Order: sequence, then structure tokens, then C-alpha cells
Amino acid sequence: MGTRYITTPIYYVNDRPHIGHAYTNIVADVIARHWRMQGHTVRFLTGTDEHGEKVAVSAARFERSPQEHTDLVSENFRLLADACRLSHSDFIRTTEMRHKDCVAEFWHLLASKDALYKGKYAGWYAMRDEAYYTETELTKDEEGNPIAPTGARVEWREEESYFFRLSDWQQPLLDFYAKHPDFISPRARFNEVKNFVESGLNDLSVSRLGLQWGIPVPGDDTHSIYVWLDALVNYYSARQGADGHDFFPPSLHVVGKDILRFHSVYWPAFLMAAGLPLPKQIMAHGWWTNEGVKISKSLGNVIDPHELFATYGVDQTRYFCVREVPLGEDGNFRHEAITRRSNIDLANDLGNLVQRVLKQVAKNCDGRIPKQGDELPSDTKLLEMASLARAEEIGKLADAFRLHEVLGEVWKIVRAANQYVDAEAPWALRKTDPMRMESVLYVLCEVIRRIALFLLPFIPDGSGKILDQFAIPEAERTYAALPNMLRSGENILEPQPIFPRIIVDTPT
Ligand code: ME8
Ligand code: MG
Repeated sequence: MGTRYITTPIYYVNDRPHIGHAYTNIVADVIARHWRMQGHTVRFLTGTDEHGEKVAVSAARFERSPQEHTDLVSENFRLLADACRLSHSDFIRTTEMRHKDCVAEFWHLLASKDALYKGKYAGWYAMRDEAYYTETELTKDEEGNPIAPTGARVEWREEESYFFRLSDWQQPLLDFYAKHPDFISPRARFNEVKNFVESGLNDLSVSRLGLQWGIPVPGDDTHSIYVWLDALVNYYSARQGADGHDFFPPSLHVVGKDILRFHSVYWPAFLMAAGLPLPKQIMAHGWWTNEGVKISKSLGNVIDPHELFATYGVDQTRYFCVREVPLGEDGNFRHEAITRRSNIDLANDLGNLVQRVLKQVAKNCDGRIPKQGDELPSDTKLLEMASLARAEEIGKLADAFRLHEVLGEVWKIVRAANQYVDAEAPWALRKTDPMRMESVLYVLCEVIRRIALFLLPFIPDGSGKILDQFAIPEAERTYAALPNMLRSGENILEPQPIFPRIIVDTPT
């Protein structure tokens, strides 16, 4: 087993965290936990993107210095990470010294390879996006003002600027893509990126003139470094673990499809120019809408993840987000759907299974793991659904980021286990065949233990509680512990309900 390095985007500190940010966090966290359970040493990075004109403007509005302002609002994303149960190793802020120093070092590296030059930039600038657009990309709003394809207002700007020789990297990028067919998923997005690069790359303006809330260009502090160069370098500045181990290059960047181009074109080109290794993979997930409507501040339909956690629970939200949408596709958030999934999949299917089995063990087996007798074909059939071979197949789905399919497969086991309880009716065996009753309950406990291990990356709280009931030590909460089998005679804890039924007034 080796080392892995996974990242989320660093979020704009200005925005209030919403379901989209929570989703990216959750997806990255599921993968990070999955890798750890496979035995990898995983570095998992998240953080906040704190420079740029927008931040300075917003700080001024609150009559705060930009640093005061970012200190305050970056906390929102720390809290979000904790609330999502993120297992991150580090939280980077671009206003930290370690980052600023590293960006300066990165700039020197680019300059030393002749990847930068000073020129003049003229174009349509959208402050909201911190990006320039070409004339052909623009549309008009109702009043006839030019607007960016993202809907942001643009203004004509002309200024001296440092440029990165992006055009030099068109062919090397295309060669790299050809050699690494799994570099970007989903595949359809990879094709979009290739088409974009094939259509030609212009040199990229990487500095802004004037005093701004940003990192000064080394040796020329009339300029500050373009926020996207600054931001992307976070993956490099935070590459070291607490023990000094260097995890670079990243194994996986999890990003939303909105920022795929920055990660799949600009970032690799910067790295090639700097002579550094490229990330192994980029996963671009889709976009969430709220009851079918685009989520936006102006529409007032932003979904607060803390509200979701309070209403449905963290596991329920994590489960819903991953189960509802194939990773890479767009998702539609509906209260009705998350309620249904919480109640049917979690409370009924999984929660009841665990409850009814553990209650019988508590009551009829003296609260100890029962003894397995002769294995009957029905036992074998159920155990094989959660066998080591099946675990490997399911693990491969997770490796390929087919996370919703992993859950689909696990729920086949959950449903089969419920059918097995009904068919074997262990409560009826108590008088007639107590040994068989023990055997049936043993098989069920063992299958539940494996289910909990499969689900640990997805719903860490509930799965953790299930494993707690069996008193499974931390060291045995890995895939390597799958073949261990429960030891008969060990005490289980008093059964506790794990996934409550959700009763909500669905907003209309
Ligand atoms: O772009 N659906 O930060 P950001 C799904 N600072 N995901 C969503 C979403 C939605 N409706 N809305 C946001 C930035 N996201 C830069 C990144 S990285 C070097 C710099 C998620 O705060 C999604 O992951 O705008 C998207 O890529 C990210 O939030 C953008 O966060
Ligand atoms: Mg954004």
C-alpha cells in the first residue's frame, strides 16, 4: 500500500457554504476514507481561497481589513468541513505564510524556465469570475450591456500584465492526455477539455496591475499574482504531511465541472513549465439544482448544508448525495427524495435489519455473539453476497468513482439479509431449534459487520455505531479485516436505534 493525496477545491471565502460545497467535500471524503480502508496513507486537503478583488470589495463593505474579513469568513468553511465529518488532514488558507512563500517560489520557478514575460492585456473582465472573456464569448443582458457567458457583468480593461506562455503547452498537453486516458473523468468532460486545447491556447495573463488583495509578483510589487495561479498552487504549498512527508503530485483533484478547465489545462501547464509532476487524476462532478431550479443567491434558494444536517442528519445527507446521483452527472435536490431515501433505505432497510437482529441477540443469546452451527445453503448464499470476492468487486467500483453503484450493490446485500431474516424466522426457532437460531443470528451479525465495513466511507457515523455495538476495535475497521469473522461469545452492546425515521413538513 502506498501514499495518496486527494484534494477538494479551495472555496471562495466570500460565499456562504451551500450544498454544492458540501457535496464536493463529501465525495472527496468518501474516496479518502475508501483509500484509507484499503490501507493507503492518505493526505486529504481542503481549504479556502482568500485573495482577489471581490474579497477586498466585500471586506470594505463590512468596514473590515481584508485579513480581518477573511479570518472571520474562512471559519465558515472550517465549520462546514467538520459538520460534513470530513476526515481531512489539513486546511489551507491562501493568506497563510506557507502558501504565500510557496507561490513566490513557484513564480520564480516559472520565471527561471522562461515561462513568463511582460506584455499588455486588453479584454473584457468580469470581477465576479475573476476572469477575462473574449469578445465572441459575450452576450447581452436586457439593457444591452455586455455580459459573460456565466451571466457576470464585464468591463473593458487594458493593462500591463505578466503572461504565462500557455501556447507553448498545447502539444505537450495533448500528448499527455493521449498517454493518460483516465486523467479526467467523466470521459465526456475529458473530450470537452481535449477539444478546448485542440482549438488553440492563448498565453494567459497571470498578474494584475495595481495594489490589490493578493500576493505581489516577486521583484515587481506593482503587480499582484492572478488569483487562479495563486489558488491552484495551494495543492503544492500544502503537499507535506505533518511528519514532513511530501505527497506531491496529487492522486486526485475532486472539483465541480465549473472549474475543470483550470485544473485540467492551466494547472498541468503550469506544472509542466515548472518542471513538476502532474496530478494523476481529476474528477469533475456535476451541478446541483434545488427542486429543479438553479441555485443562486439572487433567487434566495441556496440550500444550507447545516440545515440539511439538522433536519435529516449527516449520514442521511451524505448517503442521499452520493446515492441519488451518479458521480459526474448533475443532481436535483428534492426534500421529498432525501426524506424517502432516509426513511426507506436507511431507517427501514438498514436500521431495522440491525435493530431486529441485535435485539434478538440481546434477548435470546444473552447479549453475546451467538455460535455458528452447520452452514446451510441459505447461510452460504447470504454470506457469499458479502464475500471477499464480492468485496473486491465492490472496491473496484469505488476505485472507478462509481460510488452510487457501490451503494446499490451494498443495498442488495441489505435487502437479501432482510429477506433471510423473514425466511429463517429466528424468533420462531428459539423454542424449536435454539442451535439453529444461534446459527442464523450469527450469520446475520457477521453479514451486518461486513455491511458496516462497506459503508464506513459513506456513512461514517452510523456504520461506526454498528461496529461499536459489536465492539470492533479501530484497527479492525479496514477492508483487510473483512475475513476476520465475529468471535462467538463476545459481548455486544445494548442495541441502540441508529437511523431514526425522518418526519418533515416538506416545504411546498
Ligand atoms: O471556484 N453544485 O471556489 P468556489 C455542485 N476558489 N457543486 C457546486 C455547486 C453546485 N451548485 N456550487 C459550488 C472556486 N459547487 C475557486 C476554486 S481551486 C484551486 C479554486 C462546488 O467557492 C464545486 O466543487 O466557487 C465547485 O467547483 C466549487 O464548489 C466552487 O467553489
Ligand atoms: Mg464559484
